Amino acid sequence: MSQDPSTQGAGLAGVVVADSSMCFIDGQKGELVYRGYDINELAWKASYEETTYLLWNAELPTRPQLDELNASLSTSRALPAAVSDVLRTLRDAGSMETMRTAVSLLSPFDPDTGGSSPEANQRKAVRLTATMTTILAHHVRLSEGKDPVAPRTDLGHAANFLYMLSGEEPSETAVRSFDTALVLHAEHGFNASTFAARVTAATLSDLHSAIVSAIGTLKGPLHGGANRAVMKTLEEIGDVAQVEGAIKKRLARKERIMGFGHRVYKTMDPRAIHLKKMAAGLAGDTGERRWYEMSARMEEVMMNEKGLYPNVDFYSAAAYRALGIPARIYPAVFACSRIAGWTGHVMEQLADNRLIRPRSRYIGARGKTFQPLDRRK
Ligand code: COA
Repeated sequence: MSQDPSTQGAGLAGVVVADSSMCFIDGQKGELVYRGYDINELAWKASYEETTYLLWNAELPTRPQLDELNASLSTSRALPAAVSDVLRTLRDAGSMETMRTAVSLLSPFDPDTGGSSPEANQRKAVRLTATMTTILAHHVRLSEGKDPVAPRTDLGHAANFLYMLSGEEPSETAVRSFDTALVLHAEHGFNASTFAARVTAATLSDLHSAIVSAIGTLKGPLHGGANRAVMKTLEEIGDVAQVEGAIKKRLARKERIMGFGHRVYKTMDPRAIHLKKMAAGLAGDTGERRWYEMSARMEEVMMNEKGLYPNVDFYSAAAYRALGIPARIYPAVFACSRIAGWTGHVMEQLADNRLIRPRSRYIGARGKTFQPLDRRK
């Protein structure tokens, strides 16, 4: 191999780094397929639990298989006392910091800690998927000075999360919408956080470490942090009549408008189509149409000004707002959904593992003469 390989493209854009059967994306056509199933089919027909099973096992579950997964998830929702104690200490911390810390802390309490067989990793994946929503809901309640609401075993994954947030049983529309949002965010190929998880797993580190890497990577505003930034932009603009002027001013200052553009999609992100429909429907139900209307106007302005389409983070902001989910936790809600994809990818990586270790092209100095400390200027 050459000592001085040429770079393949900044940010690994367009570089294929592995084979995967988790997810197919056609960025030109706006196609997204999980394990052979088009997202447009899965979005409103499959539950998050069915989608999770599909991502982990490559097939949709039969009724008994789904019943078994539902039972394992619902009985794995409680947190170890040590994690609950730390959540109290972290009540003023950010939700992604809290998730990253709490997931790390879950590791030694997992009954399969130290185990790395496929079966142990599946069980860990179930527990992580179940507990991440509890961590987040408890964190929100504590940060608002309220007592955490214990998870229920008789509710589905989406319903239980909304219940733990508010302490009230959510409406059927809210549950259906949130469940769909979870399905839409569950998997997306070799995005930055999934890649980070696979890099960690490929060293034969443990599943929790891989997920901690993923959460840390998702936290950035160019990835999972964008949905929160979208809501911040909408709040700053405040009114549909101000959208055009405000966006043009930001663009003139060369600012990035969060929620637009995508590394892979060069057309409308198929997930954004469903989230837009959801945000519109929920806005009608709640009577607070402002956030949806501002978003729709922003979409028009961004298309006219930059030719950029909204991505998954854009309409999820207005949809989550209508569901009563606080904007500061949007990236953490993304993590609670993406755990299905992250864990599926880690298991896929380990099934045919090779250390991921690329190279860089060295552009620094060479041949410098060492100067003793007291002679350096
Ligand atoms: N607002 C304004 N301009 C944008 C933009 C945005 N949201 N996204 C891309 N652009 C512009 C860039 O300024 C650049 O223009 P230039 O060539 O004149 O400098 C061009 O489009 C290409 O952008 P680039 O950053 O090279 O694309 P990328 O593939 O590296 O980045 C994102 C993809 C997602 C990081 C980028 O679109 C972005 O920053 N979006 C906002 C953050 C976001 O919503 N992230 C969530 C992704 S799901």
